[in-house]
Amino acid sequence: MNYLKSVPFRMCLMVVVLIRSRFLTVPVRCVGVGGQEVSGSVMKSLLLLLSVLSLRTHGARSSYGSSPDRVPVLDLHLDLSSLLHRLDPRFLSVTIDASLAAEERSMLLLRTQKIRTLAKALSPAFLRFGGTRQDFMVFDPKGGQQLTAAPSAEEACGAVQLPALLEGDLKQNWTQQLLLLQKEEHQGRYRRTQFTELTVDQLQSFSSCCGLDLVFGLNALLRTAQNRWNSSNAASLLRYCESRRYRMSWELGNEPNSFEKKAGIRVDGGQLGRDFTRLRKMMSESSLYRDAGLFGPDVGQPRDHRADILGGFLQSGGGAIDACTWHHYYVDGRAASLEDFLDPTVLDSLAVKTGEVLETVKRASPGTPVWLGETSSAFGGGAAGLSDSFVAGFMWLDKLGLAARMGLDVVMRQVLVGAGSYHLLDDDLNPLPDYWLSVLHKRLVGPEVLNVDAVSGAGGGRRVRSYLHCANRRSYRDGAVVLMSMNLSPRPVRMQVPVPVSNSTVETFVLQSDRPGMDGLRSRSVKLNGVLLEMVDDETLPLLAGVPLPPSDHLQLPAFSLAFFVFTDAGAAACR
Ligand SMILES: *[C@@H]1O[C@H](CO)[C@@H](O)[C@H](O)[C@H]1NC(C)=O
Ligand SMILES: *[C@@H]1O[C@H](CO)[C@@H](O)[C@H](O)[C@H]1NC(C)=O
Ligand SMILES: *[C@@H]1O[C@H](CO)[C@@H](O)[C@H](O)[C@H]1NC(C)=O
Repeated sequence: MNYLKSVPFRMCLMVVVLIRSRFLTVPVRCVGVGGQEVSGSVMKSLLLLLSVLSLRTHGARSSYGSSPDRVPVLDLHLDLSSLLHRLDPRFLSVTIDASLAAEERSMLLLRTQKIRTLAKALSPAFLRFGGTRQDFMVFDPKGGQQLTAAPSAEEACGAVQLPALLEGDLKQNWTQQLLLLQKEEHQGRYRRTQFTELTVDQLQSFSSCCGLDLVFGLNALLRTAQNRWNSSNAASLLRYCESRRYRMSWELGNEPNSFEKKAGIRVDGGQLGRDFTRLRKMMSESSLYRDAGLFGPDVGQPRDHRADILGGFLQSGGGAIDACTWHHYYVDGRAASLEDFLDPTVLDSLAVKTGEVLETVKRASPGTPVWLGETSSAFGGGAAGLSDSFVAGFMWLDKLGLAARMGLDVVMRQVLVGAGSYHLLDDDLNPLPDYWLSVLHKRLVGPEVLNVDAVSGAGGGRRVRSYLHCANRRSYRDGAVVLMSMNLSPRPVRMQVPVPVSNSTVETFVLQSDRPGMDGLRSRSVKLNGVLLEMVDDETLPLLAGVPLPPSDHLQLPAFSLAFFVFTDAGAAACR
């Protein structure tokens, strides 16, 4: 018989509990203190004893102290032989909310050195420009008045320095602007705004200089008397972008399922699909956009009886799109609590919604990739004091892990900068904890998804969550894998992986708040392997180095932590 692993007697107790609770199916050989195998009858008496004791240990859980001997160990089963999915290399992507352009001069903030340094570290990725306000924005070209003669790419990328005085002024105006927009959103009344060449020029320069692929969201609420999309404004924008040779992709409309609520206009799925077909035809007539991406319909997440618009859309417009996009938020920002961010049931709700969307797409438009086209922790601009703090990382990393595991090819995080409290960069353009988490994910995690099963029950339970990918080939050699794990509980846990993975050298990247305990969850600073993460200067990120761990050591997951463990020589067949 092939044993998974010989385990010392003390740990055996735990394993027996696992077998009993059917979490563990792999046979384990238990060795006593002297190295002798423990006999079947001893095991049976142990089982009896444990069924009594396990109740007690449950009750005594809170007494787990810092003594390493008492820290529960979680066994992980990894499948290194086959891939579950291969995702888009731009899997982790970001958005800028269209509200940034409501006061158009704010777009100049995208020229600051700091934001460009930070955005570049997230390449390759999409940059989606869209959101509620995209359906209230009209292109109003100013012709000669724009910044004339496009500078060459190198010049444009080098010459980004914004005078400090102007930068300060812009940020201040922008902060005021954000408050105004928030009020508008709460009242549910939106005024139509105009944008000029400046907005597209800034977006294009920013994305191309930072290695991001721009996705521009067009206004779908410009309608004709017959309630069809009036494409004339979009045509004028496409003409301008083509004249400047801007390579970009397109979307049309944001959360069409709530058009009626936002603007008193009802557009059903079938009509929206025909509107997309119209846009695809316009694109096909352009030499530059003939092969460009078109993504949609950016529907809100399915609610009880509101899955209808997506099915109808796919029937008439499924052939027009390159990916089917939908939006997801776990909770309402105004009602969210700290506990929501750590609640496994809340995190699991994404799997339910994703399952519904995947099912709809499979039925109506099989083979179409499905993306999270806009997503974050809490809707309504995020939960103030939570969505911008360390605790938000649990929702973010779990979303990245779960979405990948279910085969969503791209996840666009709302937002890189601006709008609300779910941003990656704060109002001074300084990185928040979720930014650092995103950069680490981008560097370490490859697009190939593998399967990992956590054998839980031994204290960690549902509060330890793990995901497995091939490691990013840009940073690691073939066969390397990366385990993403998070500990949602206030107690540390240890994890172990079976041979041969446990024989590999491990690089560990553990993220924790800069402050301990519950209070630290609300911190806006984060430590990597014990060192506070800060930019060195506007052009330089800190060294994000892992700490090597000798082979077959247990993986330590401190209380309330997020971690990446890279097994550099795991030799995974699926990752070659
Ligand atoms: C900021 O707002 C003030 C008042 O509306 C305006 O005069 C000024 O030009 C704005 N500054 C910038 C940089 O947009
Ligand atoms: C579409 O919008 C343009 C610009 O507002 C307008 O001139 C045109 O008449 C509209 N077309 C239709 C069919 O409504
Ligand atoms: C793993 O390491 C152990 C000893 O450290 C060794 O006996 C074993 O052969 C190794 N297994 C593999 C698959 O490399």
